[in-house]
This record gives sequence, C-alpha cells and structure tokens, in this order.
Amino acid sequence: MAKDKAFARLPGFRDFPPEELQIRSHVFESWRRISRRYGFQEYDGPPLEALELYTEKSGEEIVGQLYAFEDKGGREITLRPEMTPSLARILGERSRAMPKPIRWFTLPQLFRYERQQRGRLREHFQWNVDIVGEAGVGADAEILAVALDALRDLGLSQDDIVARVSDRRLLTAILTSLGVSPEAHPEAFEVVDKVEREERGKSLLRLRDGCGMSGAKAEDFLSLVGTGGLEDVHRLFGQDPGVAEALTDMRDYQEVLRRLGLGDFIQFDLRIVRGLAYYTGIVFEIFDRDREFRAICGGGRYDRLLELVGGEPLPATGFGMGDVVLTELLTDRGLLPDVSRDADLYLVSISPELRPLVHELARVHREKGRRVLYSLRSQSVKKQFSSASTEGARWVIILGPDEVKRGVAVVRDMASGTEAEVALQVLKAGEGLEGNEG
Ligand code: HAM
Repeated sequence: MAKDKAFARLPGFRDFPPEELQIRSHVFESWRRISRRYGFQEYDGPPLEALELYTEKSGEEIVGQLYAFEDKGGREITLRPEMTPSLARILGERSRAMPKPIRWFTLPQLFRYERQQRGRLREHFQWNVDIVGEAGVGADAEILAVALDALRDLGLSQDDIVARVSDRRLLTAILTSLGVSPEAHPEAFEVVDKVEREERGKSLLRLRDGCGMSGAKAEDFLSLVGTGGLEDVHRLFGQDPGVAEALTDMRDYQEVLRRLGLGDFIQFDLRIVRGLAYYTGIVFEIFDRDREFRAICGGGRYDRLLELVGGEPLPATGFGMGDVVLTELLTDRGLLPDVSRDADLYLVSISPELRPLVHELARVHREKGRRVLYSLRSQSVKKQFSSASTEGARWVIILGPDEVKRGVAVVRDMASGTEAEVALQVLKAGEGLEGNEG
C-alpha cells in the first residue's frame, strides 16, 4: 500500500465539519422544539438490531437495502434502516404499563444501502414522531400537524410545500370492488406507488397481467388514481361500505387539519400508498410544490405492527422526516441561518508578561458563562485582533503594560468600535463588559 494513500469517505456518507453541523443542529432544534410543543417525549434505541425485525415487517424494498452482517456471536444483525420496527419492539416490552396514547419522538441516524442519487444517501438522520394507542383520525391529524408545523417553523409556507394524503383502505376497497383478488393487491399498490415514475403503458400492462384487470378497467383505475378527488371516489365507489367509512374518516381528518390552521397544506391524492409494507390506513407524504425534490417526509397509520413484533395489539400512526431533502430545500429557499462564530470575549495581551492575567480573566469570565478565547501562544497584537474578528468576538479586552500599571484595561466593543478603560478589579470580578454595549 502506498504510504501517502489518502483515505476516502465511504460513498453515501457525510462528514459534518462545524459549518455543516451547525445546519444540522438548526434543523434538529426545530424538530425538538415542535415535538415538545405537541407534548412528545424523546426516546432512542440501539443502532444495531436483529435482522429478523425487518425481514418480515418492512417489505422487500427496505430489506434489499440493509447493511446486514453476522456478528462475532453468530447473530444475524443489521444497522437500523428505519425506526418504526425498533419503536414497536421497544414498546412491546413496556407499553402495557404505560398510559395511552403514547407520544414519542426520536432523531436517529439510519442506514440504507441505496443507489446514490440526489436526496438519497446511505445514511441520514430521520425525525420520527409517533402516536401509539389511539385509533381515531384525531391522532392521524395531530401527526401530520406536527410535521407541517416543524416545516413552518423552519420558514416554509403553503407556497413551498404540500402534504399529499390518502388512505390505503380506500385503494384496497376500490380494488376489491373492481374484482381484483387480495393476492394481487400488493402488485396493484406497487403500480400506484410507481405511477408517477413509470410509463403509463407499462402500468396498464401490469394491472392487466399482474392484477387481472380488463384493459378498460385498468384505464379507468389509472385515471381515477391520477386525477380523482374525494368526490370522484364517492361517486364511483361510495356505495361500498369500506370506501364509505374511509371517506368519512378522510373528511374528518381534513376538517381537523383545517381547524389546526393547516388546510392550505393538504391535498387528497390516491397515488400516495407508501413503499413500506406495514401501513394500514391514512398515509401521507410531504413534497415541495414544484416537485423538484424527493419526498421530505412520509408516514401513516400502522395498526398491526406492534402486535406483529410480539407486543400489545395497539393502533399507531407516525412519520419519518429526513434531514437530506429538507436541507436541500431549505438551502434552495435561502432559509438556513448564516454560519457564524460567536465568541463573547477575546483577550489580547500586548506583552507576553501579561499572559498570566489573560488566563485569570479567561477563567473568571468563563465562570460567568461567556465564550472566551485568547491566543494560545505569544503573538503580535495584529494577529490577536485578526483572530478576535475571525471568532466573531463581541468584546476585546486589551491588556497593555501601562494600563495594567494604572490598574485598568481597555475594553473594545467590536460592533461599534468604541473603547473604554475599565478597572482591572471590575474585570477580575467578571464584570465590566455589559456596560460597554454599544
Ligand atoms: P420512509 O418513507 O422510508 O419512511 O422515510 C421517511 C423519510 O426519510 C423520506 O421521506 C426521506 O425524507 C427520508 N429518507 C429515507 N431514506 C433516505 C435516504 N436513503 N437518504 C436520505 N433520506 C432518506 C420510514 O422510514 C417510516 N419508518 C416512517 C414512519 C415512522 N412511519 C411511521 N412512523
């Protein structure tokens, strides 16, 4: 191996130097703030899980993307590709003793061996918010409200984003009404999931050959899925009790969201089915209005997953919002904060003999909670001032031999450029800066 070999980062993984981490923290802070505003509590779990947790519950798409391997104890394990199965497992051990509904959120880093493309990496952070133990649409509406409120908190409006909402039960009932056998439903769901990316002819063929639909029925079905509103579904399939129930829920759901001030953000869209296998009811995805980016967020109801992983049978609904697409969109809209350094105080010493005083003042002002920096070795005054401005210092204390002899030091307010002499005694007490605010 060549001695000077440079080590490359793994494809699909990111480094977070401070300027990137600052952006990530900005997003995380908003996610946490909004979670708490809605009364959710933060939790976490291990980054490694048993492979089995996903192979049966999440569906093929995710299983094909697992970072799976055998550990030294011969266990089949994998890095977590999503959080929902872990949540179900964790609650399986403790939900019986907990008051319902359970409102939990988390910000895990997840790993999927995906084909790399814009907005898709092999790791991402995903805000997960879930309500467990409430079957009514009130919980579905609350979940979508949390997601939309966080996006609003980050500066996005209804002109930027839209939540496309549907209900898997509607599609299931429509397919049943059309005489499609239950075994062929997964194929039909997949066709719908891909309808925006797949050529229409291919979708029609799959509906005919894979789902047993006649050519005319497949055409009607695709048109309904593509452009149909609630009224169309009601007119064509409203007599089906399954459709009628899901339609009533969908109307109630939208009504609650309107009352929560989010009506302008939502749009009924039968094309939203979600790729994961465990969803059972209302599902949604949030996109940018111009459809320039991939989905920012996806979620929905999964009423059988907890029972499937061996826990108490509890209804649940929630979402995952990734940091990758969201950050791309926020960057595009100029909604990310300036990356800046923000020291409170930089201590400049004109002569090396004054360094002990620098250390003493640094200690007392840090004890007061201020961010304090100074040069770690003797340097020219010019260099020290240049560092002070690089660090974004609000104040500089200049320690000069003559002033120190007189028992004072100069405090410069870096914003206004004004200077004032302050007694060393005052500065040594950790005071003397605030009064100099310009
Ligand atoms: P998901 O749709 O697989 O859902 O992921 C949710 C969001 O995570 C996506 O909309 C996207 O923003 C982001 N995301 C997913 N994969 C990647 C990737 N490879 N690179 C960058 N971002 C990505 C779930 O994972 C469900 N478990 C969410 C959920 C929670 N449902 C109910 N509760």
